[in-house]
Amino acid sequence: MAIDGPAAAGKGTISKAVAAHFGFAHLDTGLIYRATGRRVLDGEDPLQAARALVPADLARGDLRTPEVAQAASRVAALPEVRAALVNFQREFARRAGGAVLDGRDIGTVICPDAEAKLFVTASDEVRAARRLAELAPRFPDLTLAKVLDDLRARDARDAEREAAPMRPAKDAVQLDTSKMDIGEAVAAAIRVVQDRLPPSA
Ligand code: DC
Repeated sequence: MAIDGPAAAGKGTISKAVAAHFGFAHLDTGLIYRATGRRVLDGEDPLQAARALVPADLARGDLRTPEVAQAASRVAALPEVRAALVNFQREFARRAGGAVLDGRDIGTVICPDAEAKLFVTASDEVRAARRLAELAPRFPDLTLAKVLDDLRARDARDAEREAAPMRPAKDAVQLDTSKMDIGEAVAAAIRVVQDRLPPSA
């Protein structure tokens, strides 16, 4: 199943919970771009960085920072970087037993035939407040205004790029989580998936 949407809309939490509920594997594809962006910040060429990725890169503890998020969004705009990362994502999606992938282009480009597609959104202000709450313990000097600016810059770059821009697939169900708590958002997502799974599942 494909779960797309902008930063901090709730995709990650929803994807993990949906995968746990149905017993599917889960891949946060943002981590792939973050790991590539991290290598580029460390001085590597973007395409070399994407080609050199190994599973341990995705487990690095320094990927969830504002600097790496912006670097990820920048490398993600390069068509050759995206092309280098397609096979890994498609192979993960095809694994027996089912998989949930979350990202920006899963329902449109990586898995256009996914059984269920969700596009998760929330207002800019709600997303910025959620991201600030997540980052504040590690980055005490961050402000809501700075987080909001960063999110908007990243969304604009992700949505306006030519290569696999962030957009809902035509057959995606849109889920606005602005006024939902985690439990409500997860329950809504599970209903969407349940309705689309073959009856035997
Ligand atoms: O989901 P995230 O915030 O960790 O993603 C980081 C960046 O990676 C995001 O700003 C754009 C890029 N990305 C992408 O282009 N395509 C994906 N499928 C996932 C992430």
